[in-house]
Amino acid sequence: MNEYTLANAHGMEAKIIPYGGIVTALSVPDRHGQLANVVLGFDNLDDYQTKNHPYFGALIGRYGNRIGNAGFTLDGMPYKLPVNNGPNSLHGGNAGFDKQTWTVDEASSSKLALSYLSKDGEEGYPGNLTTRVIYSVTNDNELRIDYTATTDKTTVVNLTNHSYFNLSGSGSIYDHIVTINANTFTVIDDTLIPTSELARVEGTPFDFRQPKCIGTDIRSAHPQMVVAHGFDHNFVINRPADNSLVLAARVSDPASGRVMEVLTTEPGVQFYTGNFLDGTLVGSGGRTIRQSDALCLETQHFPDSPNKPDFPSTVLKPGETYQSTTVYKFSTSG
Ligand code: GLA
Repeated sequence: MNEYTLANAHGMEAKIIPYGGIVTALSVPDRHGQLANVVLGFDNLDDYQTKNHPYFGALIGRYGNRIGNAGFTLDGMPYKLPVNNGPNSLHGGNAGFDKQTWTVDEASSSKLALSYLSKDGEEGYPGNLTTRVIYSVTNDNELRIDYTATTDKTTVVNLTNHSYFNLSGSGSIYDHIVTINANTFTVIDDTLIPTSELARVEGTPFDFRQPKCIGTDIRSAHPQMVVAHGFDHNFVINRPADNSLVLAARVSDPASGRVMEVLTTEPGVQFYTGNFLDGTLVGSGGRTIRQSDALCLETQHFPDSPNKPDFPSTVLKPGETYQSTTVYKFSTSG
């Protein structure tokens, strides 16, 4: 596999391929300095290209998450998108940014700059979108992702990365302890599209304002948990209305001592507990990938924003620059 390796002085290492801009491996130290790969992936390019996998480590675009009924109207023009998730369009359609081979613009030992031109009309979206993503590994044990995009026609954009994390490097994530900096989440219907309601987390399984073990409420009978088969919800990050990086979530693994903080400029984060992983895929090192083996924290604008005028806008106009940054910062405790 044509992997680019980014590393820092502490041995942290990220491996990335141009296909899908996929993070294929991410090695970080535990409390004893032992490295382990904390993301799900495959050992070879062929698996990424031929297995029907759920976006392992990939860059997601042009629109991360779902757009209801696979369509939206922009400046009075209706746009139809590929239907690939119930009645909806998920993660940019059938051949989203995760299935494109990105151009490598710059590569060094700690930084990889990728770009991709999504043509006007590709997967139903208007405008030629020039997208640039810079991955970097810093000496503070961070994997930083900077996204920018420009368009020649008014369009919608919502970019993210879909890495699946397991801070132990194996086993289930039910013992991982999660904090999410959110007082509310977007309530979803039975096709996982937001209803527009922002519900308070207080008194629900969605209250992660204080550190909570994932296993505590994963089998809750709360209707929102049943509909998503676990956590698969967009949390509304408590943040100022500016472009600053704020803490969205923190995950710690008592077994290894590894801690991951997710900081972002985005207004939302999709907390997904790998509910649809069903044991049919075999990943890196021969590991059978099963439900609860990993979690995602996809920083984003809210799902279905193009159809939800009350949500923060995902519209990008010619002359504007879409800008988004997310940092996965690793440390240890205990
Ligand atoms: C996102 C979605 C999930 C699922 C995964 C990929 O996290 O919210 O419902 O589709 O992507 O399987």
